[in-house]
Amino acid sequence: MSERKPLIAGNWKMNLDHQQAIALVQKLSWALKDVSHDFDKVEVSVFPPYTDLRSVQTLIEADKLPLVLGAQDLSKFDSGAYTGEVSGAFLKKLAVKYVIVGHSERRQHHNETDEDIQAKVAACFKHNLVPVICVGETLEELEEQGAAAVPIRQLTAALAGHKEVNEFVVAYEPVWAIGTGKVATSEQAAEVAKKLRQSISEQVSIEVSSATRILYGGSVKSSNVAGFLASEEVDGVLVGGASLDIDEFTGICRFQKHVTL
Ligand code: 13P
Repeated sequence: MSERKPLIAGNWKMNLDHQQAIALVQKLSWALKDVSHDFDKVEVSVFPPYTDLRSVQTLIEADKLPLVLGAQDLSKFDSGAYTGEVSGAFLKKLAVKYVIVGHSERRQHHNETDEDIQAKVAACFKHNLVPVICVGETLEELEEQGAAAVPIRQLTAALAGHKEVNEFVVAYEPVWAIGTGKVATSEQAAEVAKKLRQSISEQVSIEVSSATRILYGGSVKSSNVAGFLASEEVDGVLVGGASLDIDEFTGICRFQKHVTL
């Protein structure tokens, strides 16, 4: 296993209102406490919808929970006449650390382009937020170009032109594996992660590439997580559906119990 601290990230997508969010975070923290989860060894982060962030932040702070707060998106703008947008500055005020940027659902349903995603990464760097940059190919792209070509092109675009590159995380999420029950094999995920790391080392530096965590996402469950994390190349998982189920998500956080390294 590498020295990078594994990150287990739960992307709730558009699920749970703020009261349901409080209940889930309380139950999750009890479940992880019951199994003596070592948060220094495996970081656990939750990404609730915007309307839940303040409630979850208050709970985390009041009960001193070792969970890390993330947001699902941010505006590329700082402030002003952008109805419906949420600034990185506002997220920082809520003690948010991570922000998902460029999720395939936003690329698909909100027509986010590589340029938008590059600007959102810049907004994260500006406001001291850590972007979780999502990349991944569709089934058609997989068949035509292989697994790594599109993710590498998307990551290169997201990292282009920044004056300074701060900490970031990459999530390789093949579009064909999201919410479908179809998973990439652990070899496929490891191979793409390796190529993404190589491309970071060429575009940014070897130091940054060896420090950057690369996650896999797409139909991750407690029963398949160990395979992905058995590889040196994969440093965590971005979990959708299974992050809403306490037992499943706790099982995923405890992946080391199933992996023999
Ligand atoms: P599922 O785990 O539901 O496939 O979702 C993956 C995802 O999109 C996480 O961001």
